[in-house]
Formats: sequence, C-alpha cells, structure tokens
Amino acid sequence: MSSIEQTLSIIKPDAVERSLVDNIKDIFTKNNLKIKESKKIHISKDEASEFYKVHQSKPFYNDLCAYLSSGPIVVMILEGESAVITNRKLMGATNPKDAEENTIRKLYGISIDKNSVHGSDSIENAKKEIEFFFKN
Ligand code: CMP
Repeated sequence: MSSIEQTLSIIKPDAVERSLVDNIKDIFTKNNLKIKESKKIHISKDEASEFYKVHQSKPFYNDLCAYLSSGPIVVMILEGESAVITNRKLMGATNPKDAEENTIRKLYGISIDKNSVHGSDSIENAKKEIEFFFKN
C-alpha cells in the first residue's frame, strides 16, 4: 500500500552558512522526496525554545535553542513515499561520527550540535512541526 507522507526538514545554521542548501536539497529530490515548500528564515531564541520544547528537560536544551536561532535556517515540507523514515535515513545518525557513509550528517555534519539538518521523527510530530513553521 502506498503511503505518501509529509515531513518537516530544517537545514541548520552551520549548513546554511557553508552554502550547502542546494547540495542538501539535491539529496532529497534525487531520493524521491519532493520539496513542497521551502523558506529561509531566522528565528528568535524564544521560537527555537518553543520548537524544541520536547527536549526542555535535556542538559543540552539551552545550547540547542541558542544554536538554532544563531543564524538563518531553511525550513521545508518534504513529501513522498514514507517521507518521515526516508528523510531520517538520508540524514543519518544524530551524531555525525555515528552516521553511515553518504548520509547528510556524515557528509556535512560537524558535531552533534552542528549536525546540519533536523527531520521530524514521526508522522504525528511531522504534522506539529509543519504546523509550527507553515501555519498560514
Ligand atoms: P535534532 O534532530 O535537531 O534534534 C535535537 C538536537 O539536539 C539534535 O538534532 C542535536 O543536534 C542536538 N543534540 C545536542 N546534544 C545532543 C545529545 N546528547 N543527544 C541528542 N541530541 C543532541
């Protein structure tokens, strides 16, 4: 059975700063994920804190929110067959050191914080995250 899904992807400040946006978008489109929406924005620390509030009890929460709001990011709605898991496979493990060859984080990630991309981890969270950035 076909399951066309949508998921949210963020290209983080480290990758935008290094002009990797087109390289990363190419990886999505070559792997059957359509970019339905894309916008470059610079969010405030309060907005980042709201977006990542699921991590609010974690020791890295403050740094994570400061980092996501430290420079421009590109937020996208990706659509395709099993888009949530497809995107997560393309991204690779959270820590670039643990990521498989040819994944985005292995190719471009610098550290667990500067890991170049974020992707929704479930269909339910994808809906919430898409709503967060594309509510209008
Ligand atoms: P992301 O997929 O955007 O979700 C939360 C982010 O927290 C994660 O990528 C990492 O960049 C960051 N992070 C920092 N430290 C950790 C950690 N110890 N475990 C998981 N994520 C971490």
